[in-house]
Amino acid sequence: MRFCIIILIFLFSTNISAAESNSGPMPRHEWSFNGITGTFDKAALQRGFKVYQEVCAGCHSMKLLYYRDLLDIGFSKAEVKVIASEYTVLDGPNDEGEMYERDARPADRFVSPYLNDNEARLSNNGAYPPDLSVITKARKYGEDYIYNLLLGYEEPPEGMEVGDGMYYNKWVGGNQISMPEPIYDESVDYDDGTDNSAKQITKDVVTFLKWAAEPELEVRKNLGIKVILFFLVLGTVIYLAKNRLWREID
Ligand code: HEC
Repeated sequence: MRFCIIILIFLFSTNISAAESNSGPMPRHEWSFNGITGTFDKAALQRGFKVYQEVCAGCHSMKLLYYRDLLDIGFSKAEVKVIASEYTVLDGPNDEGEMYERDARPADRFVSPYLNDNEARLSNNGAYPPDLSVITKARKYGEDYIYNLLLGYEEPPEGMEVGDGMYYNKWVGGNQISMPEPIYDESVDYDDGTDNSAKQITKDVVTFLKWAAEPELEVRKNLGIKVILFFLVLGTVIYLAKNRLWREID
């Protein structure tokens, strides 16, 4: 009886989650970082950072990242210095007790587009653009959802009223979002000759967001494989030893 109830609850709860998305099941995509041998493509990460910098950073902060973290995705020390120096941070107080502005350094956090949350809301029709540092972990379906969301802007279906300053989006809950469509074909120029279609740009920026949220992913997966191999070898040795020790008794 108890077993039946558990099965029923299970069926019921999967129904609820299926009903959540009113645009059908969430499409999944191929990512280089999926699977147990998944890795990040450094060129894609660097392109993704460029997209973040040129498009998303106008509205979204990434406060958990430091400029020096960009060394991890293949930028040289000199490049990171130049990237950081394009931003200004408020430092101080100095000897006179005053705050002053200076160029950002590799040891600084990513500079936020707004001074505080209120300014962010004011500039975005009352909606708060969330910090993107760990956004792939903070949303159900992670990278797949964000990819679909960024490409999910469409004309609203007939009869649907979209609120003032809101946009119809296929994948967001309630189908209305206050973020205007950020990515179009060719909206970012790539220096490495990669095709800059909206899909490619989106794929790159989402790859970058995934790395930002899980920079340790490659190390973790690598360690996972080593641990599995270790236990396979250990298991074999123990099995052989057991056979040998018990041979005379059997
Ligand atoms: C013009 C400002 C603006 C730009 C540019 C912008 N966003 Fe947003 N974004 C917003 C606002 C405002 C929200 C909050 C939307 C809401 O709550 O309705 C948001 C929400 C989001 C969300 C959360 C959606 C959810 O499920 O809650 C993600 C993810 C996101 N943006 C990613 C991006 C990425 C990636 C880029 C760059 C390619 C980008 N945004 C560019 C303003 C912007």
